[in-house]
Amino acid sequence: MANANNSEQVKPLAPAEYHLRSDYEDPAMSGGKLTLQHRRRCLQCFGCVTALLLVAVVIIIVIATVFHVKNPSIRMNSVTIQRLEFLNNGSVRSSGDENVTLLADVSVKNPNYNSFKYGNTTTSIYYGGVVVGEGHIPQGQAKARRTLRMNVTVHLNPEKFLTVPSLRSDILSRSLNMSSYTRIDGKIKLLKIFKKSVVLKMNCSIIYNISSQAVQQECRGQALLV
Ligand SMILES: *[C@@H]1O[C@H](CO)[C@@H](O)[C@H](O)[C@H]1NC(C)=O
Ligand SMILES: *[C@@H]1O[C@H](CO)[C@@H](O)[C@H](O)[C@H]1NC(C)=O
Ligand SMILES: *[C@@H]1O[C@H](CO)[C@@H](O)[C@H](O)[C@H]1NC(C)=O
Ligand SMILES: *[C@@H]1O[C@H](CO)[C@@H](O)[C@H](O)[C@H]1NC(C)=O
Ligand SMILES: *[C@@H]1O[C@H](CO)[C@@H](O)[C@H](O)[C@H]1NC(C)=O
Ligand SMILES: *[C@@H]1O[C@H](CO)[C@@H](O)[C@H](O)[C@H]1NC(C)=O
Ligand SMILES: *[C@@H]1O[C@H](CO)[C@@H](O)[C@H](O)[C@H]1NC(C)=O
Repeated sequence: MANANNSEQVKPLAPAEYHLRSDYEDPAMSGGKLTLQHRRRCLQCFGCVTALLLVAVVIIIVIATVFHVKNPSIRMNSVTIQRLEFLNNGSVRSSGDENVTLLADVSVKNPNYNSFKYGNTTTSIYYGGVVVGEGHIPQGQAKARRTLRMNVTVHLNPEKFLTVPSLRSDILSRSLNMSSYTRIDGKIKLLKIFKKSVVLKMNCSIIYNISSQAVQQECRGQALLV
């Protein structure tokens, strides 16, 4: 009884299934037309899938490119020291109201497809372990795949130089060793939603030739993605 019931239940399903299929292709019409249509549909389907895959691949590449954050880099192009003059007896010549300045020509290179924005940051100049001057890099941004070049003006305090015991011997050797420390804190925004923090640091050793007022610098930069 159960078997008969089952077969009776299955039977009505078979025509329904057949009917569904016949919505797509009518095998009753002709065998040749069926395979031709079938092939065309297969090709269309294949084309659609391929196009979708291509679109997906392109989207993935774009997202990967946008989200792949590379380290920006910092570079010291040149250092110029203006109006820093020493007398042989170990004092600083005060040339009126004129400020003693150090000009740092700095480049920030941003290799990313997003802009790198940074806040107000400081550059410090050391002589013999003493901070002899501080300058500020005003907040700004290095646009996508661009190098931003700027001059940082640091006011040097000549009185601070006088507090360093080795000044006298350095004046006699006509050469002063200084160093600079720059730190830039910034962010790279991804699609205006996600942010990556970046810290750029640069240390330079600066050798100032008192006779020629020429400056030789040697720097080491470092970038950290936080
Ligand atoms: C150094 O010499 C200058 C003039 O040549 C003088 O004005 C200054 O007071 C001297 N400084 C010291 C510390 O002797
Ligand atoms: C020297 O620096 C001060 C600020 O530290 C500034 O007000 C003044 O204009 C500067 N003088 C010159 C000659 O650059
Ligand atoms: C940068 O910060 C320093 C103190 O940290 C401040 O004296 C200076 O005015 C600031 N500059 C700008 C442009 O915000
Ligand atoms: C920086 O200063 C140097 C020398 O004063 C000048 O030649 C250069 O054009 C300046 N660069 C910028 C970006 O202001
Ligand atoms: C200054 O630095 C140079 C090179 O780094 C070094 O050869 C020299 O001995 C240093 N001079 C002093 C007085 O520290
Ligand atoms: C730069 O100098 C500071 C101290 O002056 C030190 O803590 C830091 O490790 C140095 N960084 C590099 C990259 O040399
Ligand atoms: C400083 O410059 C003068 C003149 O250019 C040069 O004769 C001297 O050798 C330089 N001194 C040092 C320590 O480089």
